[in-house]
Formats: sequence, C-alpha cells, structure tokens
Amino acid sequence: MKYLSRFLLNICIFAPMNTNGFSLRLLKWYSEHGRDLPWRKTDDAYRIWVSEIILQQTRVAQGYEYYLRFVRRFPTVEALANAEEDEVMQQWQGLGYYSRARNLHAAAKQVQQLGHFPDTYEEIRKLKGVGDYTAAAIASFAFGLPHAVVDGNVYRVLSRYFGIDTPIDSTQGKRLFATLAQEMLVVSEPSTYNQAIMDFGAVQCVPKSPQCAACPLAEDCQAWLTNRVGEFPVKGHETRVRDRYFCYIYIRYKGKTLLQKRGGGDIWQGLYQVPMRETDVPMNQTDVQDWVGQYGRLTLLRSGYLHQLTHQRLHADMWLLEAERRPPFDGVWIAEKDRGEYAVPRLVEELFQQV
Ligand code: ADE
Repeated sequence: MKYLSRFLLNICIFAPMNTNGFSLRLLKWYSEHGRDLPWRKTDDAYRIWVSEIILQQTRVAQGYEYYLRFVRRFPTVEALANAEEDEVMQQWQGLGYYSRARNLHAAAKQVQQLGHFPDTYEEIRKLKGVGDYTAAAIASFAFGLPHAVVDGNVYRVLSRYFGIDTPIDSTQGKRLFATLAQEMLVVSEPSTYNQAIMDFGAVQCVPKSPQCAACPLAEDCQAWLTNRVGEFPVKGHETRVRDRYFCYIYIRYKGKTLLQKRGGGDIWQGLYQVPMRETDVPMNQTDVQDWVGQYGRLTLLRSGYLHQLTHQRLHADMWLLEAERRPPFDGVWIAEKDRGEYAVPRLVEELFQQV
C-alpha cells in the first residue's frame, strides 16, 4: 500500500506507546492482506454509517450486497429520511435484527433535523442505534478522529495477544479492553489502524483454528506462547436460549391471502406475517382445527421448522387454510402474487416456499 512508508514514519514517532510493535505489525499485515471493501473507499459518513450498522450483526460476505443495494436505493441521508418505513424494512428484509433498520431510519431524520452529519464522537453517539463501537468507527473512518473501536474481533485479538482472561462481558473487562484498545491506537492513523485490527480478527486471528504458525504477531502472542489460543477471549455468563413455538396459517381465499403487521415489543417489529399464534408447546391438529377449521380445509405444509436467533430457538409450523368463508381476522388482504412486495421475516419467507 502506497501509504505504508508514511505509517512507518508516523509509527517510529509514536512507537513507544505501542508495546512490542503490536500496532506496527498490525498495520504492516493490513497493508499486505487487508480486504478491499466498498465502504473503505469512501469518506462519506452516511455510507460508512450504513455499512457499520449492517456489519454490526452480519458477516461481510452477506452484508456486501445489502450494502450496495441499500445505498443505491437511498444514496443520501435525505433520501433515507424521506423514505417510507415499509420501504426501508423491505430493503432490510433477510438481514435480521430489524430494529437496526428502524433506528437507521429514525436517525436519518435526526440528521436531517440537525442539518448536517454530526462530526464529533459525542454527537455521532447520540444517533439512534449508534453505540460506542459504531460511534468510534464512524468518527475514525469518516472524520479521522482518534477513537479506537472495540468489537468482537478486537476483544479476541487483544485478549489473545496480551493473554487477558478478564471476561469480556464484565464491567471490568469492558473498561479494561476499551482502555487497552485506545492505548494501542495509532493516533496519526486511526482509520487505518481500526480497519487493520478488525480485519486481522476477521481474517487471521479467527475464532476457530487460526493459522498461528503463519501469524506475524505469534512471537509475542501470550495465548500462542502458552498454547491457550482456544481459551481466549474469556466470557462470563453465557445467556441461555429460549424455545418458542409459532403456528402460522396461510389463508387462501379467492386468490388472496391475509397479512398482518407485527407490533412492537418483540422480534420483527414492523414486518408482515400471515396469521400466527404462539404457544408454550407445539399446537396439535385439534388446536388448529378449533382455531380456524370452521372457515375451510386445513393442510399441514411444514412442521417443526427450526429457526435460530441469538437467544431464541423458534419452532414453526405452517398450515394452509383453503377458506370457503372469509375469516374475520384483522390485517390486509393482498393478491397472493403480490406477496413479494411486503417485508417478511426470513422464517416466514422460508415457510412461503411450501405454499
Ligand atoms: N465489521 C464491522 N465493520 C467492518 C468494516 N468496516 N470492515 C470490515 N468488517 C467490518
């Protein structure tokens, strides 16, 4: 990379801060192995922000196309602020964690009100859906401000290299890693340094079976030197996973089907679905018959379909109701062929394949 000599010069000046040349070697690694990603070629804060929100819970491989499509559809923060929420949700469909899209939309309106994209860490941090990580990412990538990012990659790289076994999900751990990350930051190159440490975590210092023998940091890596790479980062409490049982009824009535919009306070707020009941144990045929059997003929299309979220395991059944009478349920009746125009959770999209 053509900037390498400038890094080296800067780092010679700032080197005493960077223990064992950690940061220097990271930048060198990045100049040779860093990935070429579209949001790295821009200093447009809006685009950087969108990319970071997408990448919060989505892998680069999946997020890439969504990012390109999203900024093509909403090329500016004004375009996003002026869009309908349904349209924003539709662009997000399949990415999951839909509160990200709702917050992005709300924050675009905040920016519009402000009249310009906020350009300090504190102001950026006030945007809806922007936490410490995302604020540091935008501040450094878009405005060159010296704020170190701390994400899952950074926890893994720092905990292994320095052999830190403080749980990363404890208050103490969060503070410790935030301080250490900030100490390691190359303040003259915050953007490149932040990209470098995250990419290093994503490509080289990966969670499972990292290729430590070929790692430029191995000779000073405490985890590697003590043969404990698999033990870092340390996590305190693993959150337990909840089982939920969803029973969906796909109604077919005169070429139409019924969609209902999900309300707040739960997953998938603002997305559409066919009528559904949630129960503590799976509904059996008699339960379903009692619920909607009076309206027509029932066929089980899919049973026990499993959909995993971070803290929830969803078990879904889908029935087809070929209705002779129109069930008096709330919602919007739409032509079946127009189903694609409504944003639905991925689980529902999967179930639609059976129809
Ligand atoms: N994950 C989160 N932010 C990222 C970025 N800017 N580049 C690559 N992966 C990321």
